[in-house]
Amino acid sequence: MSVFVVNGGRRLSGEVEPQGSKNSALPILAATLLCRGECVLHNCPRLSDVEASLAILRYIGCTARREGSTVIVDTGSVERFEIPSELMHRMRSSIIFLGAMIARFDRVRMSFPGGCELGPRPIDLHLSALREMGVVICEEHGELDCYVSDELHGANITLPIPSVGATENIMIAAALANGTTVISNAAREPEIVDLADFLNSCGARIHGAGESSVVIEGVERLHPTIHAMIPDRIVTATMMSAAAVTGSDITMKGVIPSHLESVFPVFRDSGCEINIKGNTVRIGAPYRLRSPKLIRTMPYPGFPTDAQAPVMSMAAVADGMTVFVENMFLSRYSHVSELCRLGADIRVEGKVAVVDGVKKLLCADVRAQDLRGAAALVVAALCARGQSQISGIEYLERGYEDFELVLSSLGADVKKI
Ligand code: UD1
Repeated sequence: MSVFVVNGGRRLSGEVEPQGSKNSALPILAATLLCRGECVLHNCPRLSDVEASLAILRYIGCTARREGSTVIVDTGSVERFEIPSELMHRMRSSIIFLGAMIARFDRVRMSFPGGCELGPRPIDLHLSALREMGVVICEEHGELDCYVSDELHGANITLPIPSVGATENIMIAAALANGTTVISNAAREPEIVDLADFLNSCGARIHGAGESSVVIEGVERLHPTIHAMIPDRIVTATMMSAAAVTGSDITMKGVIPSHLESVFPVFRDSGCEINIKGNTVRIGAPYRLRSPKLIRTMPYPGFPTDAQAPVMSMAAVADGMTVFVENMFLSRYSHVSELCRLGADIRVEGKVAVVDGVKKLLCADVRAQDLRGAAALVVAALCARGQSQISGIEYLERGYEDFELVLSSLGADVKKI
């Protein structure tokens, strides 16, 4: 198991380009199954979650190879219609293969996806939507046995909450279903739009992605395509947090600023200067940050739950009090106890965390317990006085590509051991 050793206190400077979006790559990799041929996916980040998706594709008989940041997947020949629990458990997002396998083969046998560090993450919305589209789903002993008895057909589906994964699963299955599907109260995240762009470039007919009503007219077949993933907005927000806590000035290229409209004001409220020119974002942080006061996580276009943890590291060293309200997941504060070991002053009650900013964090050995929590600990260690050691780096590597190298290229003292 690797650990990060961070000598805090270095200012950062220079330019970075965020990796391709993990949350785009995972559904798009599953959706390649619909194309029966070779898809070329550019800007596909090298992450353990992406490798887990590729392992599933290979297991069922596809070929997948990587050339730098490009992944080439050939889904022309497939031998298996089941996904073993060992592969399903590697990541919770493996549930996205449900819609893709059903759309391609009309059947699939898979176990429930992996448990999750963020508290219970049910898949009831995925299952009820697919049932409405004609899929018979038998759940027993942690296994899902699914088949289409008559035909996979379109349906009018209203989601009680705008679930990202459920919206994606429905879109993928509906792309090859007979008739039209309408998703009401759909998730509006940029990754939903990226998935729709991928599917449409394969010949699908999806309208309204990015809005709360998405219409999918099913087509007979899809063809392979070439697609580039959008940049990862959460990695960008994490880099901005790293710049903020170290009083630094950095430039991020290849960003889509409109994806970060709920994130920029938090940094501006903290006293950071943000200059946007086209796809380039420059952030300059003051000597002492001000507290951003109130941060409530919400579905897009609200403040993203995935940025809550890294931004909390910023609030931990800001002047004043910040209140966080985590509305998306039940246990998304596992980083709090570790931030407190680094000297932060944070109290949690239910979905509320109250952060009283301190002047300095101190070094400590801390353990990450989930992906974004791991990023928050690295950000905090960058400004903590002395040498900190962060374990649980396997969580970080689910979502951040070569994070230690990216930070080192900006002048941080971070080593992976
Ligand atoms: C996706 C993102 C994740 C992000 C989250 C919220 C991917 C691969 N992951 O996760 O990084 O943190 O969106 O922006 O894109 N829910 C149900 N029943 C369901 C499905 C979801 O109750 O069937 C609940 C969840 O418990 C959660 C809320 O809906 O409280 C939102 O979850 P959802 O949008 O589905 O998140 P994911 O797609 O899992």
